Amino acid sequence: MNLIVAVDQSWAIGKDGDQLVYIPEDLKRFKSLTTGHPVILGRRTLATFPGGRPLRGRRNLILSGSPGFAPEGAEVFSSLEALLAAAPADSFVIGGASVYAALLDRCDTAYVTKIGRSFLGADCFFPNLDALPEWRIAEESPELEENGVKFRYVTYRR
Ligand SMILES: NC(=O)c1ccc[n+]([C@@H]2O[C@H](COP(=O)([O-])OP(=O)(O)OC[C@H]3O[C@@H](n4cnc5c(N)ncnc54)[C@H](OP(=O)(O)O)[C@@H]3O)[C@@H](O)[C@H]2O)c1
Repeated sequence: MNLIVAVDQSWAIGKDGDQLVYIPEDLKRFKSLTTGHPVILGRRTLATFPGGRPLRGRRNLILSGSPGFAPEGAEVFSSLEALLAAAPADSFVIGGASVYAALLDRCDTAYVTKIGRSFLGADCFFPNLDALPEWRIAEESPELEENGVKFRYVTYRR
């Protein structure tokens, strides 16, 4: 499986239930990499999408233990085991923190957008792949900038 995530310099990924920053260029890349593939996400991340609706053009496999939670256009799984039995190998894990932590060991490619600053008050984090010996950098873009935000794309494999 694959994962895709945007991290700051401290590997933070969110604050107060939302993204740290929205980078339009990065969102376009997210769409082009994930379209046509299943995406795996937690209920709280789904809530950050416009209208709380699943992403178009992709099977949305949602983890939730909330009874009766059944958003239209999504498939809901109440356990990791049930989700893993349904998730094809070309799936993308798209967050949030709890789902990345649970599925990191199932992934072999990580598409990481590294944002060139730190955000005060961030409250959820991704594991620091630079500190995990099994992960290595396979590709790295030059530094990019949009609306004053610097970032680079780093692909890790293991
Ligand atoms: N920077 C990025 O690339 C990125 C990407 C995605 C998300 N984020 C950020 O990450 C944050 C959300 O992360 P989060 O960890 O709080 O929430 P999350 O992982 O999106 O969702 C958590 C929910 O998923 C369900 N869940 C997770 N594991 C489960 C399991 N094993 N079995 C059944 N249900 C399970 C539970 O839903 P129930 O409560 O319904 O049981 C749980 O409350 C937000 O700030 C978001 O903006 C950042």
